[in-house]
Amino acid sequence: MYTQSFDTQTNAKVERANSDSREDAFLARIRRDEKIEPQDWMPDAYKKTLVRQISQHAHSEVVGMLPEGGWITRAPSLKRKEILLAKVQDEGGHGLYLYSAAETLGVTRDELVDALHSGKAKYSSIFNYETKTWADIGIIGWLVDGAAIMNQVPLCRCSYGPYARAMIRICKEESFHQRQGFDIVHALCKGAAAQKAMAQESLNRWWWPTLMMFGPHDSDSTHSGQAAEYGIKRLSNDELRQKFVDVTVAQAEFLGLTIPDPALVWNAERGHYDFGSIDWDEFWKVVNGEGPCNESRMQDRVSAFENGRWVREAASAHATKRAERALAAVAAKAPVTTHDPVAA
Ligand code: 3HC
Repeated sequence: MYTQSFDTQTNAKVERANSDSREDAFLARIRRDEKIEPQDWMPDAYKKTLVRQISQHAHSEVVGMLPEGGWITRAPSLKRKEILLAKVQDEGGHGLYLYSAAETLGVTRDELVDALHSGKAKYSSIFNYETKTWADIGIIGWLVDGAAIMNQVPLCRCSYGPYARAMIRICKEESFHQRQGFDIVHALCKGAAAQKAMAQESLNRWWWPTLMMFGPHDSDSTHSGQAAEYGIKRLSNDELRQKFVDVTVAQAEFLGLTIPDPALVWNAERGHYDFGSIDWDEFWKVVNGEGPCNESRMQDRVSAFENGRWVREAASAHATKRAERALAAVAAKAPVTTHDPVAA
């Protein structure tokens, strides 16, 4: 009895020592800026934080199709409809790359989608606001995609290979999205007074929710410390938010629009803009399901998923048939391909 418990304790110590040294080696790879690939050993906490962040990101892309999707038929010209259609389709593609990146960590697409539909998984707060006017589509492209780029460019250098590689393509596409939004707002600002007023009214509604996209202040951010240690987050929530404000002020000035923040002022000493306080109560309400559109977004997502079930089933039956046909063709050719010229 004594020997058995002694052995168990010794084994546990050896396992702990092995695991500590593997973790040290892993962290050393991160510090050397090496990419971690799916087949590599990784700590459970690394895997967990990646699955959480990548899947939330994927859900955000897919839910993010909804506020703009409703404007495709109402866009003011054929050209604008085509551009918006392509943009919304791109967002769906981003969701797919990201779900695939998450799947390399051993979770299934069904598990991820279930987590979204059951309300367990989060998605970006920004997509729970209403798109009331055409100007909102411009403002979303300019500000929301602009904020997404600011946050996502550093993720192209994140330590996990499949996520970093997905982000490179996503960021290229997001920059087109940002330009199409800016172009819409620019056209409105050059138009009639009522069009410019529409752009200003939209900016007034979207400015603060856009700043919230970057997440809570660093002091309230649960995951930032570990995500930075693991080379996932390269810049903090507050650093990214500040960079976004700094670049966007000049763009608003160029458009002749006023950012709705009386506290916004250039601080020469810091070399940055100072800006007003964010309403964190509103942020947490929206994150926790009480935003203006949380309920309808989820209803729309779930019904799109259910209505698309037959398409997925048909596509998978077709893929199975093709694979069976390909196997049968290989088997039919087998005597020829296994012919041994030396023996012949
Ligand atoms: N909306 C909803 N939840 C948010 C949030 C937001 N804007 N910001 C933070 N949160 C949540 C976090 O998920 C976390 O909740 P959890 O513990 O249940 O997961 C909690 O608030 C605390 O925040 P942290 O700062 O600790 O969280 P992170 O370290 O994960 O930082 C983040 C949040 C900056 C959003 C980070 O996850 C990230 O960079 N994610 C990748 C990018 C992304 O998902 N962007 C979403 C927008 S995608 C998009 O905009 C599509 C484009 O086409 C426009």
